[in-house]
Formats: sequence, structure tokens, C-alpha cells
Amino acid sequence: MPVTDRDRWDARYRGGIPQQRPCATLTAHLHLLPARGRALDLACGLGANARVLAAAGLDTEAWDVSPVAIGRLQALAAAEGLRITATACDLLETPPAPQSFDVIVVAYFFERALLPALAAALRPGGLLFYETFTQRSAHGPSNPDWKLADNELPSALPGLRLRYYRDEQDAGDPALGLRGIAGYIGQRPA
Ligand SMILES: C[S@@+](CC[C@H](N)C(=O)[O-])C[C@H]1O[C@@H](n2cnc3c(N)ncnc32)[C@H](O)[C@@H]1O
Repeated sequence: MPVTDRDRWDARYRGGIPQQRPCATLTAHLHLLPARGRALDLACGLGANARVLAAAGLDTEAWDVSPVAIGRLQALAAAEGLRITATACDLLETPPAPQSFDVIVVAYFFERALLPALAAALRPGGLLFYETFTQRSAHGPSNPDWKLADNELPSALPGLRLRYYRDEQDAGDPALGLRGIAGYIGQRPA
């Protein structure tokens, strides 16, 4: 039997990947979240971002290919008294439906072919928060196709209005600042 992505991620989560932190692109911009609505943490892992969204009062779903991660997330959410609908699914086979979410967060998962479906999955006025490795980073996936090119997200999501972008690349003193990671927030026009 071939080893699938799901098998690989299950093994990592079974091996005890520690709790992950919510991404700074979300936590630094909580004031942009709507007061209510439907939110999705995509490729959620242990759902650090889903737990922030649920705590902010949003009806929150969390999707990941790894049933082991989803099980761990359900236990964490129950212990914290948070209501999150967590589902094991392969996003490449079942991307979110058009106009189905007010907020989508994607952290440290990048699949270029999925970007149009993510933009389409936002309701009018909806927000996409994205944070992941750039091709400049020594960390993250070894395949450069799974990392962002310079300034990629604003140009790859022309239907969204840019609300925030940070990608410092090699400008100035590379020992300072936030290097190798880009953060993006886009909004679907109302
Ligand atoms: C580096 S982890 C990031 C987890 C989480 N977003 C975070 O920032 O803490 C990447 C996640 O993507 C999930 N993943 C990989 N391929 C996937 C796919 N095709 N469909 C859904 N989830 C996938 C993995 O199971 C893993 O939890």
C-alpha cells in the first residue's frame, strides 16, 4: 500500500507534535474579525487558529487531512470549552464551497492550485488570512513549489482587496525583522 500524505501527517501527530501557536497574521489583526459569522481554519493541524476564531465568537470549522490531528483538536477544544466542528478531509479533493465562509485562515500550508477556490469560498466582505514560508526560508517544506514566491499572494488573488501584506525578503539588515515568512490578509469586495 502506498504511503499517503494522510499517513505521513498521522504518524507525525501520533508522535506527539506539540501544541502549535496561532499565527501572528491572525493574532495581530483580531480587530478585523466580524462580530459573528462562519469561520474556517484550513489545514488546521491542532487548530491553534480555530481556537482563536471560536474564542472570538465565530461559528468555527477546522479541516485537516489527518484524523489524528482532528482527534487531538477535538480533545483540546473540549478541554477549553470551545465549540469547533473539526473534520478530517483532503482539501485537494473537497475544497470549501463557493461563498461559504466569512473568515478563512490558512497557516503553514500552501497549495497554489487551491488559491482560486479559497477566494471564491469567501462571502462578500469575507476575509482570508494567510501565513506561510517563502522560498527564501531555510525552514518548511523542501519542495520550493510549496513555498511562496516574492510578493506572490497579492498578485495570485486579484479578486480580493489587499488589507495587509508583509514579506521582507532581503531588504535591509537580514538579521532583523521577519524573514522567510509572509503574512497576507485579503477581503472579498462586499
Ligand atoms: C505545517 S502543518 C500546519 C498546521 C496548522 N495550520 C498550524 O499552522 O499550526 C500543515 C498541515 O496541513 C495538513 N495537510 C497537508 N495536506 C493536506 C491536505 N491535502 N488536505 C488537508 N490538510 C492537509 C497536515 O495534516 C498538517 O496538519
